[in-house]
Amino acid sequence: MSHNTNETMKDQTDSKLWGGRFSENTDAFVEAFTASINFDKRLYKHDIAGSQAHAKMLQKVGLLSTEEAQAIKKGLNEILIEIEQGKMQWSIALEDIHMNIEAKLTERIGLAGKKLHTGRSRNDQIATDIRLWLREQIDHICSEIQRLQQGLLILAEQEAETILPGFTHLQVAQPITFGHHLLAWYEMLVRDKERLQDCRKRVNIMPLGAAALAGTTYPIDRAYTAELLGFERPANNSLDAVSDRDFAIEFTAAATLIMTHLSRFSEELVLWTSAQFNFINLPDRFCTGSSIMPQKKNPDVPELVRGKTGRVNGHLISLLTLMKAQPLAYNKDNQEDKEPLFDTVDTLLGCLRAYADMVPHIEVKPDNMRRAAMQGFSTATDLADYLVGKQLPFRDAHEVVGKAVAYGVETSQDLSEMSLEELQQFSDTIRADVFEVLTLEGSVAARNHLGGTAPEQVRTQIAAARNQ
Ligand code: ARG
Repeated sequence: MSHNTNETMKDQTDSKLWGGRFSENTDAFVEAFTASINFDKRLYKHDIAGSQAHAKMLQKVGLLSTEEAQAIKKGLNEILIEIEQGKMQWSIALEDIHMNIEAKLTERIGLAGKKLHTGRSRNDQIATDIRLWLREQIDHICSEIQRLQQGLLILAEQEAETILPGFTHLQVAQPITFGHHLLAWYEMLVRDKERLQDCRKRVNIMPLGAAALAGTTYPIDRAYTAELLGFERPANNSLDAVSDRDFAIEFTAAATLIMTHLSRFSEELVLWTSAQFNFINLPDRFCTGSSIMPQKKNPDVPELVRGKTGRVNGHLISLLTLMKAQPLAYNKDNQEDKEPLFDTVDTLLGCLRAYADMVPHIEVKPDNMRRAAMQGFSTATDLADYLVGKQLPFRDAHEVVGKAVAYGVETSQDLSEMSLEELQQFSDTIRADVFEVLTLEGSVAARNHLGGTAPEQVRTQIAAARNQ
């Protein structure tokens, strides 16, 4: 290699912040293949916040002069504005968000910009960025969950006395109140939020200072950086800090459960809007039509939410698989954590938003619900319980009611529609007071204990939920 050729190559590799030991340019395809800027640019705000705190700490411990720290602060603030105004030119050659911003900073402020990376690595930087970002997203998700919960409470209060059939095996089982049914969804979301808040504790630990993997030789003050960034504390082990993504996996697992809950809820909304159930109506603004069948009004929002559950489940498997065979410490594999994580958050926020907007506007059709509860002998258990009250052992009572139901099927009438004489064919202990328990209202009102379906319990639960 002539001296001349060598010089030219050196020029070409100068554009890379790590170009010093390289003697030829990165292959153009490899450059694009290894770059993450197209997706990690969305971490810009958190990357800048991390750098601001790092620079402040470097100044505190004497590694940057006041002027240098000031220049970095100002330069980063200007870059932040430039990005938010959509004026930043992102470069694939600069690979990722960290080097894009650092190069821009040096271009703006010169020498001080080159000092920012003292005592850190992109390995602890990216781990910090993701944690800062995810912490913010968790808070956002929790407030959307809360908004959906508020909607459920409003509707549950309105429908505290509305009766519909409760199902097991999708067969009519016992009458329940619609308020009670809605509160079941509320409870699942309580746990979903708790899971996120618990996960947040482990997200909120600071990797910075771990540097590439072993820590750094500079006299850094990690507790100070952690405090500036609102982290609970710095991570205890530098290898662990740069390498594990268990916090992202844990978050995604919590997300899959939320999606699973929303998906089951969706399934019910889809069923309930069908002509066969006809229990509810979703306002037109949450539905779409068919391009060929003019009569159609489709529950697209619940269907899509149900469908999107699949991709979030997929992201959980992606992240678990990404992690499972990685030796310590950081490996480039970890760059693949972002897209599944970002999409999990986007999908979840979209679904929660749609539901929080839609749920308070669900139109209930109480007459249809009631009619359905009248079919399918939903008060059969109440008749058995009544007979137990008249000293029949439960198994015998079960048998008696079974026969009465068979008679009802034969004569096409509900238990409550039979005359006293008809009912007495099956047990002579039955008296006129039986009709109080055979009504739908009597049935639900009788389940008046903590967790039961009685309207009074629904109201108690709503009040307790609002108190929290
Ligand atoms: N883009 C990288 C990631 O997402 C940043 C860390 C790169 N570190 C490295 N040594 N190549 O994980």
